[in-house]
Amino acid sequence: MREQPAPPGRAYSGPMLTALPRPREHPRLLDGALAVLLFSLSFGQWPSSPPGSVAAAVGICGLLAGTVLARRRYPVAALAAALAIAAVQIVFGMAPGGGGPPARALEPTVADAVIPVLLYTVAAHRPRRISVAALVACLLGSAAAIARWAPAQPPASSNLLFIAAAGLAGTALTAWVLGDSMAYRYRREYYASLEERAARAEAERDAQVRIAAAAQRARELQDRRARAIDESAARLRRIERDLHDGAQVRLAALAMTLGEIKEDLDPAPGRAVDGERTRRLVSAAHQNAKETLAELRDLARGIHPPVLDRGLGPALSSLAETSAVPAELRLACAEPPSPAIADMAYFCAAELLANVAKHSGAAHATISVSDQDERLLMTVTDDGAGGARLAPGGGLAGLLERVQTVDGQLDVSSPPGGPTVVTIELPRHA
Ligand SMILES: Nc1ncnc2c1ncn2[C@@H]1O[C@H](COP(=O)(O)OP(=O)(O)O)[C@@H](O)[C@H]1O
Ligand SMILES: [Mg+2]
Repeated sequence: MREQPAPPGRAYSGPMLTALPRPREHPRLLDGALAVLLFSLSFGQWPSSPPGSVAAAVGICGLLAGTVLARRRYPVAALAAALAIAAVQIVFGMAPGGGGPPARALEPTVADAVIPVLLYTVAAHRPRRISVAALVACLLGSAAAIARWAPAQPPASSNLLFIAAAGLAGTALTAWVLGDSMAYRYRREYYASLEERAARAEAERDAQVRIAAAAQRARELQDRRARAIDESAARLRRIERDLHDGAQVRLAALAMTLGEIKEDLDPAPGRAVDGERTRRLVSAAHQNAKETLAELRDLARGIHPPVLDRGLGPALSSLAETSAVPAELRLACAEPPSPAIADMAYFCAAELLANVAKHSGAAHATISVSDQDERLLMTVTDDGAGGARLAPGGGLAGLLERVQTVDGQLDVSSPPGGPTVVTIELPRHA
């Protein structure tokens, strides 16, 4: 443990450790250290002569210890190589077989302890069926080693035999169980990461869907705004034409007639006043003025019916009173809508009541208006024959277009035999 001075600008608040390499973060270092350890521990077991035998022992122990370096990339191959070397050791390096002393260089050494390490690695990182096969191979190898070793022992050493067998089998089993439990942990982590990835993918998909919906909505609103602008431009053109072709022409005629009357009332010297003609001209001018007035009143009513000045409730109530089919008004609005929305609701109700009178054959109609959150809900119901539909270019289609310009909705339910219910939903404020 070494203490380091506090970094400049920071208050020193106790001893600090220098960064030591962590084994988990340096697996190659760990494996290298293990290989060196196994190799050096086997050192004392090498034969002291002859030189060829020493070299063979060094090579075999080096190979065995070296397999640990390959365990992370090729665990099965590393274990197979170690088991193959151990098999050679069992056959040639253990108790006398057919005769002759065992080859000293091939006797098992501490380096064989690499086998449980490799078995652990296979169990931890390879599928169960492979790791079970590896365990069986290790247990068979242990049995073979004991079988080769036992005959050389004194007959009374059955305890030693049992301890050796249990030790080898126990080591193999322990290594496998440890590795397998590690694999279980890895699998659990893997499944958890899969689940997390799936959840993330789902969240991403949801976000994509929401973005697509928002883009679609933006396109719709853009469309409606364009239609609203077109509609108001068309309305302005219609009003301008009506004023130009109607009221303006009539007022010009009125001015001319009044000019003639003025001339008649102030005749040139020597010309008598023609009372009859003047009376006719005054009567024509009067008629013209009355018609112009009516025309202007109709025009103004088309833009904004004066009855709406008193609010939506009274305007609808007067609509219901003057409806050709007896109509009842049910009003449940806590807060009045904005004037533009009131205008729209009024025109919708007027068109729908006109439809009831024209098409339904109903005996009774109802207009209901209520608040729903920030929306105004209006339904016009009749007990007529049903069959109302949104026909292109018709009044209902026109209403739908109109309410859509303020993000409203219109829904027609009119099964054959009735009743007909037209529902209109508008924002309270345009
Ligand atoms: N209240 C109603 N009852 C029965 N039929 C209706 C009703 N309202 C509309 N319709 C039917 O739906 C059609 C479409 O109505 P609309 O779009 O208002 O067109 P129109 O200009 O003919 O009134 C009408 O022609 C009529 O046949
Ligand atoms: Mg209609």
